[in-house]
Amino acid sequence: MSETVERKKRILSGIQPTGTFTLGNYIGAVRNWSKLQEDFECLYMVADLHALTVRQVPAELRRHTREAAAMLLAAGIDPKQSLLFVQSHVPAHTQLNWILCCNSQFGELSRMTQFKDKSAKHPDNVNGGLFTYPALMAADILIYNADLVPVGKDQTQHVELARNVAQRFNSAYSPTFTLPEGYITKEGAKIMSLAEPTKKMSKSDTNLNAFILMTDDADTILRKFRRAVTDSEGVVRYDPAEKPGVSNLMMIYNVFTGKALAEIEAEFSGKGYGEFKDAVGEVVANALAPIQGEYARILADKDYVDGVLKDGAAGASRLANRMVEKVYKKVGLLQL
Ligand code: TYM
Repeated sequence: MSETVERKKRILSGIQPTGTFTLGNYIGAVRNWSKLQEDFECLYMVADLHALTVRQVPAELRRHTREAAAMLLAAGIDPKQSLLFVQSHVPAHTQLNWILCCNSQFGELSRMTQFKDKSAKHPDNVNGGLFTYPALMAADILIYNADLVPVGKDQTQHVELARNVAQRFNSAYSPTFTLPEGYITKEGAKIMSLAEPTKKMSKSDTNLNAFILMTDDADTILRKFRRAVTDSEGVVRYDPAEKPGVSNLMMIYNVFTGKALAEIEAEFSGKGYGEFKDAVGEVVANALAPIQGEYARILADKDYVDGVLKDGAAGASRLANRMVEKVYKKVGLLQL
């Protein structure tokens, strides 16, 4: 009888330390990361190099990076199961980035909607890093031969590009990279702004009522949900095209209660938006409270957080350096 030991599939994902995470980051990505740890070999990364594509205040970036790591730990990333590290602590990512930049086309990078959006938002700083951002993201993924990349909907185009670059490299040289796939949940892959529900919820929104932060207290959460833009129909019904505000709130409620959309419609049938919004605010506040408690506890122990990140970087570097060495050889760089 032959026995094959299958290697667990590998997962990589990342998040930028550009401020406190929003409820969108949590629902679309981070919430799923901890769930995947049992069944997959997981690597999770604070993408500080990606954050530099927009001008950052250095002291704040440093603080946000440690806070991001603490929030990931609070949200359930277990360093005994997964590698948690900071992107710039594994220099191999930037080494592979260059090789992948040389294997990415101007045309495909120009088509990235995030590049177009961010260039429009920061017309005074359309830098080279913003343009080649997806090649660095491809390096993050391909350097570990990740099979799956759990992300929100807005990142799927980048994962697709990583796949195309991998395929191109493999056929130009020889099979080297695993072709990664995006892992996107049906529910909550795109949480919308509370103020303009046709736009994604984003921490860079200038309207502070547009997003819920993971650190918002219960009163703030309830207040923001009460102010959420809905419509004049007054009926709790799922219809993202006609009723984007209400549908977004229903999706958030669905994620935290596990209730199906039809069940939610029935629950609030004949009731006003006020009651519905309070119910959504309450389930969110209740879900975030234990994470916030853990976050405060973990963040107070800087040595613990830094220790986790050091171990994570060491473990990730071992894997990443091996891949860079292999790739350097394949492309013909002289090795002594
Ligand atoms: P970032 O930091 O913008 O977002 C982190 C994760 O949160 C998801 N997300 C959302 N999901 C649902 N609704 C929303 N409103 C919402 N807003 C954000 C994002 O889809 C993402 O999954 N480029 C990446 C970071 C990165 C990365 C990587 C990801 C760098 N290297 C390699 C995966 C693999 C980014 O800027 O995510």
